[in-house]
Amino acid sequence: MINKPKKQRIISLIKNNIRIDKVCLGKNVKYYDFVNLYGCTIGDNVKIGTFVEIQKNVTIGKRCKISSHSFICEGVTIADDVFIGHGVMFINDKFPRASINGKQIVDEWNLEKTFVGNGVSIGSNATILSGITIEDGAFIGAGAVVTKNVKKNSINYGNPAKSYRKLKNEKV
Ligand SMILES: CC(C)(COP(=O)(O)OP(=O)(O)OC[C@H]1O[C@@H](n2cnc3c(N)ncnc32)[C@H](O)[C@@H]1OP(=O)(O)O)[C@@H](O)C(=O)NCCC(=O)NCCS
Repeated sequence: MINKPKKQRIISLIKNNIRIDKVCLGKNVKYYDFVNLYGCTIGDNVKIGTFVEIQKNVTIGKRCKISSHSFICEGVTIADDVFIGHGVMFINDKFPRASINGKQIVDEWNLEKTFVGNGVSIGSNATILSGITIEDGAFIGAGAVVTKNVKKNSINYGNPAKSYRKLKNEKV
């Protein structure tokens, strides 16, 4: 369960190369050039790298690190202390279409929600398919394509990602 920041600060700011549009921003959030954040909730002490996009209705917990070039789409909820590597892609629509019978799709698509638990780490360039739950403390290897739910404190990598072992003495 994610707690929204107690004092809700809804921030809108378009400055230099930064776009923040109606974001509920926690305390001491650090963000860098070329971020595009809109309609989301971001917890205290989160760091957001350059070229990150975070869409509406995303919630991010406290002390997370979102590395550059990652995309966090609507329907994703990220708990506390989560590490997101560079170029991590989330997905929220398993069968996307631009249009059907020549009519462009606007709202007629199925949003499939994804949940990332406390203390999860996701390696660079991983892709997380839609409707996935990654349980607390799990590791996702660089370049993994995650197609199924991931168990607590497990190490997962490959395409499709598989669970290879439990964390032992590594930092949890
Ligand atoms: C998955 C990971 C956590 C290591 O897990 P591990 O259990 O310690 O894995 P090991 O290093 O012991 O390697 C075990 C095997 O998995 C393979 N492997 C390791 N990481 C892999 C990955 N991401 N994708 C595919 N195979 C991988 C190794 O080549 C090795 O193969 P082998 O048994 O055929 O020799 C790590 O490799 C990783 O991908 N971390 C993410 C780092 C990252 O993206 N950081 C971002 C900020 S810089």
